[in-house]
Amino acid sequence: MVSKQRVFSGVQPTGKLHLGNYIGALKQWADHQDEYDNIFCVVDLHAITIPEAINPKLFRAKILEVAALYIACGIDPAKSTIFLQSQVPEHSELAWVLNCLTPLGWLQRMTQFKDKAGKSDSIGTGLLDYPVLMAADILLYDTQKVPVGEDQKQHIEFTRDLAQRLNTMFPEAKLVMPAPMIPPAGARVMGLDDPTVKMSKSIGETKKGHSVGLLDTPGDIKKAIMSAQTDSDNEARFDHCGPGVRNLLDLYLVLSGLSKHEIEEKFHGQGYGALKKGVLEQVMAAVEPVQARFNELTKDQAYLEETLRQGADRARGIAASTLKRVKEAIGFVV
Ligand code: TYM
Repeated sequence: MVSKQRVFSGVQPTGKLHLGNYIGALKQWADHQDEYDNIFCVVDLHAITIPEAINPKLFRAKILEVAALYIACGIDPAKSTIFLQSQVPEHSELAWVLNCLTPLGWLQRMTQFKDKAGKSDSIGTGLLDYPVLMAADILLYDTQKVPVGEDQKQHIEFTRDLAQRLNTMFPEAKLVMPAPMIPPAGARVMGLDDPTVKMSKSIGETKKGHSVGLLDTPGDIKKAIMSAQTDSDNEARFDHCGPGVRNLLDLYLVLSGLSKHEIEEKFHGQGYGALKKGVLEQVMAAVEPVQARFNELTKDQAYLEETLRQGADRARGIAASTLKRVKEAIGFVV
């Protein structure tokens, strides 16, 4: 029997999880769950790279919220390993080893670092180092596929470069080369209030109408979608529209499963109001079962914590064996 390919991915427990996270990541993970050997991590160590945002009580609640959302979005703990990054210390240890092999210039060039650093007066070293920890996450599990949104592509290229460098210097490390798995549509869901910026967890937390949060009320979801920015035209066509309409069309495409042609026919001559209503129906059909399952899970904290404990046990087993291989290849006494 051919063994299944290994998939690894993660979400940071920060801000308000939204439709972009769902379509770019969580839905993809759930949809392909049976085809792969899946490991999904709540990357809580990454979440402290912007330390000013941390409130210990809220942070703890957010970590558990994101883990529950994984399950609520359809990740089945019987088929996929779900765990918290900080419960598997091998992530930090491999990150240190990789740090020592990473040229500083590689990190200074990363676009997400430049974006985030530009918005803050004081930058922690962790923010610069973020891609190294992400590379450790991926390489520890001999990952072949990384299902993510488009914004993570550069981080995965960085991971590949680093794996190549380590394998060249220490061939016995035998790190596996990962490839990104980016959905054909919905890989970059844009802000509803401003379709020139990516839908974002942090903006969504402070600005109403920017995103659809997976745990938002039906009223807030309706308001956000019905007031989404469009343009002065009124014909919904994929190859002939502004970025706001394109964003709505893409959302409809991914969530309905219809073809572009069928969608254009459906909304032909009806104006953008009908398109927004259509998107709202699709979004509600996706979000309602997620919220129902999430509400059930919050009543059973013991189940969630036990699932995470079992997930961490399995993850630790795999991670420890990869780390041992890397340390031996470098010459450590293991
Ligand atoms: P994070 O927490 O920012 O986002 C989680 C996932 O959601 C995707 N995403 C989007 N997809 C489509 N449209 C959007 N507007 C949108 N916004 C976010 C992201 O691409 C991501 O897949 N660095 C990662 C976390 C991470 C990780 C890893 C991922 C740490 N280690 C190892 C994969 C493998 C991040 O910040 O994701």
